[in-house]
Amino acid sequence: MSPPANIGLLAGTAGDIRFEPQPMPAAPGPDGLTVRMLFAPVNPADLLAIDGGYAFALDADAPLGAEGVGVVEQVGSRVSDLSPGDLVLPLDRGNWTRRRALARDRVIAVPSNIDPRQAAMMRINPATAWLLLDASGAGPDDCLVQNAAGSAVAHWVRRLAALRDIAVIDVVRPNSSAAGLADDEHLEATVKVASGGRPVRAALDCVAGDATGRMAACLDTDGTVLVFGHLSGEPSRVRSQLLTGRGLTVRGFSLRPAEARMTPAARDAMVAALWAVAGQGGADLPIRAVFPLAEAERAIALARTPGRGRVLLDLDAISGM
Ligand SMILES: NC(=O)c1ccc[n+]([C@@H]2O[C@H](COP(=O)([O-])OP(=O)(O)OC[C@H]3O[C@@H](n4cnc5c(N)ncnc54)[C@H](OP(=O)(O)O)[C@@H]3O)[C@@H](O)[C@H]2O)c1
Repeated sequence: MSPPANIGLLAGTAGDIRFEPQPMPAAPGPDGLTVRMLFAPVNPADLLAIDGGYAFALDADAPLGAEGVGVVEQVGSRVSDLSPGDLVLPLDRGNWTRRRALARDRVIAVPSNIDPRQAAMMRINPATAWLLLDASGAGPDDCLVQNAAGSAVAHWVRRLAALRDIAVIDVVRPNSSAAGLADDEHLEATVKVASGGRPVRAALDCVAGDATGRMAACLDTDGTVLVFGHLSGEPSRVRSQLLTGRGLTVRGFSLRPAEARMTPAARDAMVAALWAVAGQGGADLPIRAVFPLAEAERAIALARTPGRGRVLLDLDAISGM
């Protein structure tokens, strides 16, 4: 039996997934493209979307997949800067599918020196790190502290903070295989030592729960905690005396609304800077395993277990469908 022309992977109703045939994209309009998807990572945000815990309402009838990379198949008559064969990153969700119809202004062109599997992980976390640094208020000679320091976001925060002369203090959960200070009752004291007397202006917290309070306790007066993830699954808890005594600010951060507030020029500058860093090498993220789309359940199960590196879906592999 021949495989379906187009298929998508959607969230089920009980923390599971389901395959659904998707319409084949028609020939693109003047400002459109058709794209054959190649690779997509299974990110924590995708697991939240499957489990019904994502921060924004999602279209239950649309494929999952916060990010991915595809190859342009057809371009509309007014698209002059992309050609069939070029790699692109869709800006919008819905990437766990074979083929997409997209507007030119909803994709980012991938430079030719970037490996497609690395490109598949470039839409979300690098921009998140960039905009977290912007929002942190930290400047040259300041410190910031970040938890889940083995994460892809943390990897990008370290790389980009170095370009801004901001020192980063990494924190990991106790017994983590990643490097960093242990997130325990001594954290405030160990961060103080690690800061070497520089002001700790901001804390980047993607764990939440009691971790938010421990991160807040590391901050100097008027510091800011940016909560941007929920890895603990718990509501953030901060001792109120810390807020009043040090005048701290705790606020939430999400990439897509933050991007929506950028000017086109600022967004273009960010994208150019991120490709420049990625193109220098040394920014590659480890890949744990690559599964064909048909084996998405195995991919998701593996992504739910601790381990180094990202699990990718090969969206172009048609065996087994
Ligand atoms: N708001 C936004 O717009 C936005 C954008 C991008 C990412 N995020 C969030 O940022 C976070 C990191 O994403 P990512 O893709 O960079 O993650 P990732 O590469 O998958 O890494 C996850 C890391 O989190 C650690 N971890 C998992 N559960 C934890 C827990 N309960 N307590 C402490 N550490 C825990 C793991 O540590 P070990 O090494 O100890 O196993 C691992 O190093 C996620 O929460 C994601 O949803 C938010």
